[in-house]
Amino acid sequence: MSHTTSRDMFRSGIGAFAATLGSAIGLGNIWKFPFLTGMNGGSAFVFAYLLSVLLVGLPILVTEHVIGRRMRMNAVPAYAAAGRARIWSTIGYAGLIAAVLIMAFYTDIAGWVFAYVFKSLNAAASGRVLGPEDFQALAGGTLEPLAWQTMVLVLVVIIVGAGVSRGIERATKTLMPLLLVLLLVCDIRALTLPNSYAGVQFLFAPNPGRLSPAVLLSALGLAFFKLSLGMGTMTTYGSYLPDSTKILPNATRVALADTLVSLLAGLAIFPAVFSFGVEPNAGPGLLFITIPLIFSRLPLGWLFTAMFFILAAIATIGAMVSLIEVPTAFLAEKGGMSRFKAAVLSAAAMLVLGVFATLSMSPRYPGLKLFGLSMFDLFDFISSNILLPLGGIAIAVVGGWILSRDQYLGELGKNYLRQPGTHAALHAMVRWVAPVLITLILLNGLGVIRL
Ligand code: TRP
Repeated sequence: MSHTTSRDMFRSGIGAFAATLGSAIGLGNIWKFPFLTGMNGGSAFVFAYLLSVLLVGLPILVTEHVIGRRMRMNAVPAYAAAGRARIWSTIGYAGLIAAVLIMAFYTDIAGWVFAYVFKSLNAAASGRVLGPEDFQALAGGTLEPLAWQTMVLVLVVIIVGAGVSRGIERATKTLMPLLLVLLLVCDIRALTLPNSYAGVQFLFAPNPGRLSPAVLLSALGLAFFKLSLGMGTMTTYGSYLPDSTKILPNATRVALADTLVSLLAGLAIFPAVFSFGVEPNAGPGLLFITIPLIFSRLPLGWLFTAMFFILAAIATIGAMVSLIEVPTAFLAEKGGMSRFKAAVLSAAAMLVLGVFATLSMSPRYPGLKLFGLSMFDLFDFISSNILLPLGGIAIAVVGGWILSRDQYLGELGKNYLRQPGTHAALHAMVRWVAPVLITLILLNGLGVIRL
């Protein structure tokens, strides 16, 4: 992806939209959004998340696309050039660390997803429904989760090393509508269960009393994680956008579609949680406990359950390919090694940290804690709640302050006859609202200041 050679580009508006959405949709929607909502008191968290997407996520997504397309380079040189100083390439370097930390726990969950494809089929063969004890046996194990995690990483290395990521992207794009349909089936089944309305209330009935500095930071971190922001992924994607793409409408559609998928997952899971009496704050296991229960109440439920986890597995591969691509491209270009070797090296780093993350989920290894957090939670916290927001502040500073207003609006307004008023408003948000808001939420959430 050197910027001196001629660059690949998305060929159409639809291609740009689908690729951006493909990176955004993943475990963040169906696993992380519901489990964080459950842990953080429901509607207060949903409200904070929606505000984060609108006031911070969308402006930063647009800015990453603007900088990427204007510079037509990958993140490391793009920020050095846009910021007119080498120091800004730190955004790209911090992204490397974030990618490894995220993958350390992402591959653990992806391993559970793959395992659940087989577990749901096995359970069906013996006429059982998977319950919470099945999840605890898997996540609390040693060899089993590690074997799945390693398998997932090997698969991702093969895909990236063989350069067939495009095939995966295409598969993701054609199969994601199917995941959406299955989610809708889940929604309808869950919403027609007895006492399901309690779940809807949990998600949407105003509950401002539950807002706290920690909840706000968690929601902001999720907005970054969900939209793949703050580490240069979307900057690199922006560098492939054709000049004919209208950046603001494209980014708005991505943010809307991504939010819709998250809410549909929430609307499947929480009505079921309340109907079946599962604890809403069950944590990372929530998806794996509720989905088999929901489908167990449908004819051919085992088939739906298996299909759900197969489609989820495909969605995780797409997201993981985009995550491992960050260190792989860097090592291949800067380190001058083959892509395959670079992918193996990246995966090795991810696996080393990943083993700690995975084992820290098991009650058998209570010592795997640092600062009172399990390694799993720590990697998640450092990446989503610290590194990505810090990256977001830096991106807002480069886009809103160092790049001139004319340059920014010139890129944003490409292919328009007249500059729409929304562009000026968006620039003001990038300049003032986003960096100030991120800084306040970050410092407040970390306990540095008290608002
Ligand atoms: N957004 C993806 C998800 O929701 C995860 C992801 C892919 C990501 N690429 C990223 C997160 C880059 C942060 C940065 O599953």
